[in-house]
Amino acid sequence: MTPPFARIADLHAHVGTLVTARGWVTHVRSSGKVAFVVMRDGSGILQAVLVKAQVPEHAWERFGTLTLETSVAITGEVRADARAPGGHELGVTDLDVVGTSPLDYPIQPKEHGVDFLLDNRHLWLRSPRQAAIMRVRAELEQAVHDFFYARDFVRTDTPILTGAIGERSGLFATEYFDEGMAYLAQTGQLYGEALAASLGRIYTFGPTFRAEKSKTRRHLTEFWMIEPEMAWYDTHDNMRLQQEFVQYLVERALERRSEELKLLERDTAPLEKVSGDFVRLDYSDAIPLIQAKGSTTQWGDDLGAEDEALIVADYDRPVFVMNYPKQAKAFYMKENPADPRTVLCDDLLAPEGYGEIIGGSQREDDHDKLLARILEEGLPVESYGWYLDLRKYGTFTHSGFGLGLERTIAWICGLHHIREVIPFPRLMHRLRP
Ligand code: 4AD
Ligand code: MG
Repeated sequence: MTPPFARIADLHAHVGTLVTARGWVTHVRSSGKVAFVVMRDGSGILQAVLVKAQVPEHAWERFGTLTLETSVAITGEVRADARAPGGHELGVTDLDVVGTSPLDYPIQPKEHGVDFLLDNRHLWLRSPRQAAIMRVRAELEQAVHDFFYARDFVRTDTPILTGAIGERSGLFATEYFDEGMAYLAQTGQLYGEALAASLGRIYTFGPTFRAEKSKTRRHLTEFWMIEPEMAWYDTHDNMRLQQEFVQYLVERALERRSEELKLLERDTAPLEKVSGDFVRLDYSDAIPLIQAKGSTTQWGDDLGAEDEALIVADYDRPVFVMNYPKQAKAFYMKENPADPRTVLCDDLLAPEGYGEIIGGSQREDDHDKLLARILEEGLPVESYGWYLDLRKYGTFTHSGFGLGLERTIAWICGLHHIREVIPFPRLMHRLRP
């Protein structure tokens, strides 16, 4: 009888029986009489032991040809072994080489430069660190859906090819038949607002695109954003939801991906502190605070990365900076009745210098004020007719926000640069692989 195939993660169910494990070789060593193959299959790692006197001659010969990343099918008896990585060992009875791997495999167990690694991203993803990051990412994506599903939000999908514009940063454009230019979505928000008037509470989760010429550790040209939009939420309700959401994501990672965070050498102590209430700081109070620390930023300016770092330095939790000046923010934000120079908005700054992970606001619900802002910004009014309709036909108090997935993962994993948290990063100078 041919032994069944088994995933390494499932070996506990096969102790004492013969199985075939398939995967890629990560290490080999041999004493001449006993040889060891360590392999991974995506579900775990497994050590297979060949005793020369006990395996067929062809198996021993094939062992001699194994190199890093050779793909193999190894048959043997599963033995429970507490000392073995993963808790099991395979007592080999046979070994097949599925695909050889030449000795020039680019990623060797030594230091490589980041550019080299990114050029070989398709192979770099096989390394344990990169796999751990992808698992944290997948966990957080699932957590996003669980969080909103439990709160009865409806997931909606908004277009990627758009005729309207959302944010101020650069646009990717492409010709669209006889309709002129289409732009890759920078945000799903405006469509989310239309859907909130239908469904009450919605969220979108999709890729967004920004042709920003920024070469920082926080900018990608293609990133994933989660954008909830809630009818009848004001700016305070909005911030309350943001806090719960971020706390939930962090807790989920701590609970279910602790092994991966350990492999990434993430000090989780700062993450544990996220369970307390987040500080809410008014923009107008933040300015004198950062000026006292040497910033030259004036009231009216947007905050730079250094300013954000100065603000979060005082706290061990995420910080909301609220109510920015109108001129520093997007046209759709609601004028602050208490200080009409400002808008009802918030940026959520992550601790430890990770910067803004959320941008949110209450939306301008007054038709004429919104129209005036569109004109002031020199935006093409004809593209925004449908958006203005949301204020013409039964306007409503509503708020929403956008959480940048990659910045949030980078923070939770404690990674310096966000390019490692997306499988194939798109950066100003990188479109391949
Ligand atoms: O602050 P932003 O531009 O807000 C919006 O797009 C709103 N329409 C969201 C809304 O209210 N529905 O972007 C939101 C978040 C940022 O806080 C940041 O986390 C992330 O998106 N982000 C980026 N992440 C990676 N690379 C970039 N170039 C990013 N630009 C924004
Ligand atoms: Mg922003």
